[in-house]
Amino acid sequence: MAASNQKTILVTGGAGFIGSHTVVELLQQDYNVVIVDDLSNSSPIAIDRIRQIVGSQRADNLVFYQINVLNAEALGKVFEDHDIFAIIHFAGFKAVGESTQKPLEYYWNNVTGLMTTANVARAHGVKRIIFSSSATVYGEPAFIPITEDCPMAKTTNPYGETKAMCERILTDLFRADDEYSVVLLRYFNPIGAHESGLIGEDPAGIPNNLLPYVSQVAVGKLKEIHVFGNDYPTPDGTGVRDYIHVVDLARGHVAALRWLEGTVGTGTVEDAASLVGPTDEEGLRHGVAVFNLGTGTGTSVLQIIHAFEEACGHELPYVIDPRRPGDIAENYAACDKARTEMGWVAEYDIKRMCEDSWRWQSQNPNGFEG
Ligand code: WQD
Repeated sequence: MAASNQKTILVTGGAGFIGSHTVVELLQQDYNVVIVDDLSNSSPIAIDRIRQIVGSQRADNLVFYQINVLNAEALGKVFEDHDIFAIIHFAGFKAVGESTQKPLEYYWNNVTGLMTTANVARAHGVKRIIFSSSATVYGEPAFIPITEDCPMAKTTNPYGETKAMCERILTDLFRADDEYSVVLLRYFNPIGAHESGLIGEDPAGIPNNLLPYVSQVAVGKLKEIHVFGNDYPTPDGTGVRDYIHVVDLARGHVAALRWLEGTVGTGTVEDAASLVGPTDEEGLRHGVAVFNLGTGTGTSVLQIIHAFEEACGHELPYVIDPRRPGDIAENYAACDKARTEMGWVAEYDIKRMCEDSWRWQSQNPNGFEG
């Protein structure tokens, strides 16, 4: 580690899609970063690419351990060897459809993984956790645009349940001990890639999500896009979502750190899910702060396809299939709170998201494995 005067952030799952982009932003803000990742759903090449993006000097501030967060002993050694200021917890399985087939694996890996991480952290006096949550916790939202006041609903899958459970666990940790500082970041639909084209989304097998599927059709790996339903009550009948550039999302995590550090916002986070805690003598904030990370704009499946055609320069074949079970018609964020309280707003539009996604996919037709 070179920058000893800077805070050290532990990023679990830091070799993954959102994790790797967040690590780049943290290093570029001169934080020290420790990545813990078991590489079960990511590649060690992503770590090399992070170093390539940030340059050798900042790469010295990055350490990587191939560890599963369920391995409490190995994780404890990381806390012994590094003075961790805060944890950003991404580690977890994230395929909605797969979670309905493998509920035990998802509850074990995602919920026990979080609890193990929090337990080991507490044993080393670390009580600042930024958690990778999801708009899935809103289930079929009571209203849109969705604010942080929108009630958490029964989610439609075990993956979503694990996110809701982890939010409740972290909230109860603060209720029992006001030394905890928790930020729950509810992502909408992360897409895109770093502008260098060196890192991006690299799903294993056939992609479940729209964007990686579209980009693999564009690069010729898959034959045609399957549009899951065009009879929804939306402008063009296809599903509408709030797509957010993964780099905007990554910067939202840096903003969350700044919020914990007390250097942005007023600390007032009145909403149904947040709990305001004390600010300590160092000005550091405690409590539970919930933020939606989205753009506030809904985009349909057909709009995504047309935007990607512009980005890749050729038409993309698609067929209309029946609706996918569990899908909702429309979902997009109200993200005023992140703007006013964290000073964070998504900058990039759909055009830029598709251009950056295409650059990554065309330069890496088979993802990190070349
Ligand atoms: C988007 C739209 C589909 C694939 C999920 C998780 C959520 C978050 C993001 C983790 C929908 C349509 C999709 C395809 C299609 N993940 N679609 N053809 O379902 O909004 O959200 O991923 O946090 O938690 O729930 O994303 O990309 O699967 O679907 O027509 O091949 O694209 O019907 O309207 P989703 P998605």
